[in-house]
Amino acid sequence: MNTGPNRRLVLIGLGATALTPLASRAEQAQVNDAPHGNAGTAAQRVEFYGRHQAGITTPRPAAGIVASFDLAITSLDDFERMMRMLTERAVFLTQGGEVPERDPKLPPADSGLLGPVVAPDNQTITVSLGNSLFERFDWLRPLKPAHLQQMVQFPNDALIASLCHGDMTIQFCANVQDTNIHALRDLMKNLSEFLVIRWVQEGDVPPVVPDADGSTPSARNFLGFRDGSANPDSNDAKLMEDVVWIGPGEGEPAWAEGGSYQVVRLIRNMVERWDRTPLQEQERDFGRRKMSGAPLDGGPDTTERDVPDYSKDPEGEITPLDSHIRLANPRTPETEKNLILRRAFNYTNGVLKNGQLDQGLLFICYQADLEAGFITVQNRLNGEVMEEYFKPIGGGYFFTLPGVTGPGDFLGSGLISAARAL
Ligand code: HEM
Repeated sequence: MNTGPNRRLVLIGLGATALTPLASRAEQAQVNDAPHGNAGTAAQRVEFYGRHQAGITTPRPAAGIVASFDLAITSLDDFERMMRMLTERAVFLTQGGEVPERDPKLPPADSGLLGPVVAPDNQTITVSLGNSLFERFDWLRPLKPAHLQQMVQFPNDALIASLCHGDMTIQFCANVQDTNIHALRDLMKNLSEFLVIRWVQEGDVPPVVPDADGSTPSARNFLGFRDGSANPDSNDAKLMEDVVWIGPGEGEPAWAEGGSYQVVRLIRNMVERWDRTPLQEQERDFGRRKMSGAPLDGGPDTTERDVPDYSKDPEGEITPLDSHIRLANPRTPETEKNLILRRAFNYTNGVLKNGQLDQGLLFICYQADLEAGFITVQNRLNGEVMEEYFKPIGGGYFFTLPGVTGPGDFLGSGLISAARAL
């Protein structure tokens, strides 16, 4: 090895200028250094093609956005052109790739938010259609899914018109919120002739360190409780067929098979009042322990995965009959058909005019039957004690299209060919 004087001189000469600052910069983080990303998670890719759209039973990453649009279309041809473009962009945004370079005299092809290469980052893009779209056009109305309707005001709701309904929702999920924002802006730019934004809500789920056995406890919502504990098992394909996916013989148009009903609710939480509520009251109101998420009827080792046994507590002395979980799911054979798959995000939107924090839950759920699912569960929850802390202000009912089966297919292809055949 050459350790002669010439090389040492060169090193000493460079030391003060080039080598030392580079070395110390790596060791000592600077105020403006980017937070450390993770190449592994950025490379995570969710398959776009399949019988169902991704973003429903696929694991929920940390960041989500629901955007609702009205569609500036007047004909079936417009609709098809839009859905083909939307599919093409969604394939790129979810699978990732290089951003094409363009003549700098033109606007760049991409916002640049993610740099020259778009990493997939667990991105899913899930497209659902609203009641208003089907009702507006003669060529769609006869094909409307059997249970699709405009969301109504429930007794505890204070719906804000500008935060409700829409012709179409796009649900974006990814590891990092910037990935979702990039995708939203990409679609709004590339489909600007069709998409008129109506409302948008961002949300996050706090990452949770897995337990020693590798299982991950449920994340907490903004009321500090674990949220998702009793969700139906999304890996149980048979259960998902029953709870989430439209199958044959369910009274739905044939094009809808493989789709699902999406419910979105923007639910404000009165967090200031909640933070002043005694712990035992909070736990009674939900029907679960706050720290562990365990049901109330178990011993000290009970976990959030244990199932409450209401048959031993018919009067609700342990788990109150009007607690959130007991009303939402009384766990009787008759109420099994009311199961829903929840996929919520926490949101925070600054400060309300009355000086309270504007925080809450971007509640999203999927079900094969909107009436038996969300509508029945919400009707059971009407009047629950949690209404003191919950105020639904927006959202809507939508029909999530079946999946795109492969290249050449596109979102809504079944609906559009059924409309052409009318
Ligand atoms: C801000 C609003 C809400 C909050 C903070 C909230 C919170 C919770 C919490 C902490 C649990 C217990 C843990 C779990 O199983 O996830 C739970 C369970 C549940 N919630 Fe909610 N929830 C909200 C709104 C709703 C709405 C609007 C519905 C449906 C209409 C709903 C349906 C359910 C169901 C079905 C369960 C599972 C019950 C069980 O199977 O034991 N929740 N929720």
